Parts: sequence; structure tokens; C-alpha cells
Amino acid sequence: MNVLVTGGAGFIGSHLIEKCLKKSYSIVALDNLSTGCRENLASFSAFKSFQFVEGSVLDTSLVNELVEQVDLVYHLAAAVGVRLIVEKPVQTITTNIIGTENILAAAEKKKVKLVLASTSEIYGKSEMLPFKEDGDMLLGPTTNSRWSYACSKAIDEFLGLAYWKEKRIPVTIARLFNTIGPRQVGQYGMVVPRFVNQALKNEPITVYGSGKQTRVFCDVEDSVEALIAMGETDQSNGQIFNLGGLEEISIKELAQLVKKLCQSESEVQMIPYEEAYEAGFEDLNRRVPDIEKAEKVLHFVPKNSLEMTLNKIINYIKK
Ligand SMILES: NC(=O)c1ccc[n+]([C@@H]2O[C@H](COP(=O)([O-])OP(=O)(O)OC[C@H]3O[C@@H](n4cnc5c(N)ncnc54)[C@H](O)[C@@H]3O)[C@@H](O)[C@H]2O)c1
Repeated sequence: MNVLVTGGAGFIGSHLIEKCLKKSYSIVALDNLSTGCRENLASFSAFKSFQFVEGSVLDTSLVNELVEQVDLVYHLAAAVGVRLIVEKPVQTITTNIIGTENILAAAEKKKVKLVLASTSEIYGKSEMLPFKEDGDMLLGPTTNSRWSYACSKAIDEFLGLAYWKEKRIPVTIARLFNTIGPRQVGQYGMVVPRFVNQALKNEPITVYGSGKQTRVFCDVEDSVEALIAMGETDQSNGQIFNLGGLEEISIKELAQLVKKLCQSESEVQMIPYEEAYEAGFEDLNRRVPDIEKAEKVLHFVPKNSLEMTLNKIINYIKK
């Protein structure tokens, strides 16, 4: 199978490619290296079936040319990370909406299947827990740029579902919850690599807000299995799937767990949101996925415990 992975030099994209190459897929990765990097792709250069193209999903002729050559597209390229979204809202909105529009238009010409990466941010401040795919969205005001990420991904979902409904382009939406693993970087606001880096340097582990907010982390290896299953089955066409882990943990508990696993002497320090991001920043209290649909259709079962995944990340960052 010939596959295009946009955002292939990023964290999730590079893990997806690794697994696809093991399945003997031929892969083209398109990435502008804005948050991704070549090192993430270094081990794939030995594969003749792997090709990297440096470029943007905003370049329509390049997108058309690449989509023309494949049978399946994973669209992962996006502006990602709370810090990046707050600091560069124009880039976030443009990349996430126009980039996806370009990919969908190209997929229509070639009539190829498309798996779109969306996000649990879409549920926003909803308290209808655990979040189900058909649950309501509850987002904050447009004056708070944080919500532009959720809104842009929601437009992507609407567009993807519209292409399925109106034009019968097989589109599947992966609503990823907090995904973690080696190669994720902390500089754009991802909490786990940030905590691990701080703990390994015995610097204060900085928890934003009260630390009572909870998340359910999923190992990227587990998420990628489900992404592959989405690409392989027609039962996923026109469907949305939550992809998340099983263990809910508060961010303060996470800081303490990382400190213990790193055998660190760091103190855990609380930082108000307005200091960490900007005045009026809003966070989500709890974010818990209902993964029943992915279990049923994709046979998705997260296999890695949070401690197992954290240990993998710690070893990776130590190296
Ligand atoms: N990591 C998570 O916890 C998480 C959670 C929910 C959703 N997602 C989604 O998964 C996808 C992958 O995220 P990730 O965590 O691997 O982040 P990442 O930043 O590592 O990957 C995104 C990649 O897209 C590339 N990119 C950005 N703009 C581009 C453009 N205009 N053209 C081509 N490439 C471009 C970046 O260079 C990067 O390599 C994103 O769509 C993201 O919204 C991730």
C-alpha cells in the first residue's frame, strides 16, 4: 500500500511511519519541519520504501502531486501544543483549516481514503464525562486564543464528514487524547517531556494552575495501532473514534510520579496560568475518553500502563 503521512517528521507521525514500514507499506512523509525534525526520521533512511518531502500542506500543487501517488493519506500536519497555539494563533488557524481543506480537495480528485487527526480539545469544558464521540462541545470565547485550536480541528471534522456525506470520500476521524512517548518535545507546551526534562536536571517541576486538573495519557504505540486499523477497515469510513488511555491522573500526581521514576530531587512548584501562558487562560478540569467504539470497531486496547510509558520516555530523554 502507498501511503502519504503529512506531519510525518513529528512525534505521532514518525511512530506511525515506523509501524507502517514494518508492515511493508511504501511511505511518503510531507513535513515543513516547523515542530517536527529530521532526526525523527533518521532510522527510516535505510528503507527504499520511504521518502521524505520537505514542504507544506499549504502548498496545493505539492499536495495534489503527492496525494495523486497514494492509496491512503494520514493527515497529521497541524499547529500543535498549547504554547504554540497561544503565541501563534494565525499560524494555528491557517495551518489547521486551510491545510486540511487542501488535503481533502486532493483526496477527492484521487478518491483516496483519508484519516484525519483531530483532538480531545474539541470537548472543551464539557462535563459530560467520559467523553463520547457524539457528546457536546463546550468551548470558551473567541477572545481566548487557546480555543482556536479546538475550533480549527472542529472545522476539520465538519469538513471531513461533509466530504464523506456529499462526495463519498472515505474519511475517518481520529480524536486523539493526550498521547505520549519518546520523541515528543516539551517546548510547545507538552507536559510529560517538560516534567521529565525538569526532573532529570533536578530543576523545579512546574505545574500550571492548581494541578488538580486530570488527564488520561495514552502511549503513542497504542494510538498508532488504532490509526493503522482505521486505515485498513472500511467500517471506519465516515466515523469518529476517540483514542485515549485508561488511567486518569491529576497533573500534580503526574509531577510526583515523574519525580519518583526519575529518582529526582526536584521540588514540585505551582505556577499560575496567567504567568505560564497569558491573562484569562482557561484550562480543562477533567479529560477522560470513552473508547468503547474504538474497542468494538478497531479492536483498540491500550496495552502500555502509564508507568511503562513514562519509563520509556525517561530512558529516551536520558540518552
Ligand atoms: N500529541 C498529542 O497529544 C495530540 C493530541 C491530540 C491530537 N493530536 C494531533 O495529532 C497530530 C500530530 O501531532 P503531534 O503530537 O505528533 O505533534 P507534532 O508537532 O510533533 O507533529 C505535527 C507535525 O506537523 C508538521 N507541520 C506543521 N505545519 C505543517 C505544514 N504547514 N505543512 C507540513 N507539515 C507541517 C510539524 O513540523 C510536525 O512535524 C496533530 O494533528 C495534532 O493535532 C496530537
